[in-house]
Amino acid sequence: MASLAIQGMQWGDEGKGKVTDFYASKAQVVVRSQGGNNAGHTIVHHGKKFALRLIPSGIFSPEVVNILADGTVINPSAFIEELEGLEKEGIASYHLLVSSRAQVLMPYHIDLDHASELVLAKSKIGTTGRGIGPCYADKAARLNIRMGDLLEKEYLKERLDEILPLKNKELASYGLKTYTKEELLDYLMKASEKIAPLITDTSSYLNKALAEGKKVLFEGAQGAMLCLDHGTYPYVTSSSPLASGIPLECGIPNEAVKDVLGIMKAYTTRVGEGPFPSEIQSDLAQLIRDRGHEYGTVTKRPRRIGWLDAAQLKYVKMISGVKYIALMLLDVLSCTDEIKICTGYLLDGKKIDYMPSSLAAYLRVKPVFETMPSWKEDISNIKNYADLPLNARNYISRVEELTNTQVVLISVGPDKDQTIIRKDIF
Ligand code: GDP
Ligand code: IMO
Ligand code: MG
Repeated sequence: MASLAIQGMQWGDEGKGKVTDFYASKAQVVVRSQGGNNAGHTIVHHGKKFALRLIPSGIFSPEVVNILADGTVINPSAFIEELEGLEKEGIASYHLLVSSRAQVLMPYHIDLDHASELVLAKSKIGTTGRGIGPCYADKAARLNIRMGDLLEKEYLKERLDEILPLKNKELASYGLKTYTKEELLDYLMKASEKIAPLITDTSSYLNKALAEGKKVLFEGAQGAMLCLDHGTYPYVTSSSPLASGIPLECGIPNEAVKDVLGIMKAYTTRVGEGPFPSEIQSDLAQLIRDRGHEYGTVTKRPRRIGWLDAAQLKYVKMISGVKYIALMLLDVLSCTDEIKICTGYLLDGKKIDYMPSSLAAYLRVKPVFETMPSWKEDISNIKNYADLPLNARNYISRVEELTNTQVVLISVGPDKDQTIIRKDIF
């Protein structure tokens, strides 16, 4: 079984889309296992920029079978809009399968996402507003419709009868518009005209593909620090971006997920609220934001910018078993006079080299930095590791030392060919 899991190591937007697209031409199957259209994965295909949200980044490789697996939450209209957008751009020959077990993200999930953020006010999470939290909450409460239900109209009607009174009560408690069964049924039936042919038992499909020795690429969404269990709770998403979740989210055995490639930026970004100890407060943040085009793919919000946090990366390696690292956006750091790395924290005056598990403590930590010399050369056209400036190579070596992990891929620009490969892993 040859498989590779692509996992974000920070707070998302590490460049997972680019890396997935990069390896997709070597894969037979590309899988999104969790999350929904809160993800925004940027791919530059034949010089044109695409922002994928739900559709896996293997879609540009015509031979690849792309799968939205059991653990995903799917907004049918957003899915259709994205697919039709790609078709309009000439991406017409593709293979795409949607799990019958994936959850349907309903219009009221979006309403509830906005409403709870409004009520939380100052303490809001800063969600993407796509209804992700309410949809996963309803999954746990066993109150969702699943994609397979779109193929069973009579059952779907029964489910709406069961679910809708509860959801309407909740909507009314926020003073929101309620829904009728007829309007939701009509909406879902219209959507299913396009989606129905794609819906299948993707767990069975994947197990067969793996047994046949097909190469499978698991495209992570979000990043480890947004994990519901292991991230900076409550400032997290509502699913797990860790590679260890993939077997469960896809209905495949544990051993099917072989190697984990951790994706990290050469610095750190975060969208939304929550602690960020290595955040840069000076004008340099705006300089990096501009050079790295650090504005949210989904919400266009300016991303918060910070230095690399080695304590955080060590923690992520510990909880998720990252085997290799892809270091992204190294070119952006050419604008700096020096580079800092957060190697640990001061917690109540005491030096620690780990991430505290309690948010209250994590909010109190002060970063401890080490400083390294930077480089000014434009590195965005460099193809070989040896041609990188010495200080860039020293920075990469320091990242490897601090994380105890080999950097196998270095990205120096958004294009596929702006990629330096140090080791073949897939
Ligand atoms: P994802 O969510 O992990 O797929 O990442 P996003 O697509 O949300 O954000 C990454 C951004 O960085 C996108 O705008 C990419 O086009 C861009 N990008 C990826 N790799 C590089 C790189 O090495 N250098 C630069 N300058 N931009 C990059
Ligand atoms: P990709 O796959 C960056 C963040 C939101 C917010 C928190 C909860 O592009 O890396 P949600 O809408 O999921 O309930 O929001 O999680 N978030 C992301 N941040 N990249 C993402 O995905 C994200 N998906 C969710 O900004 O802080
Ligand atoms: Mg993104």
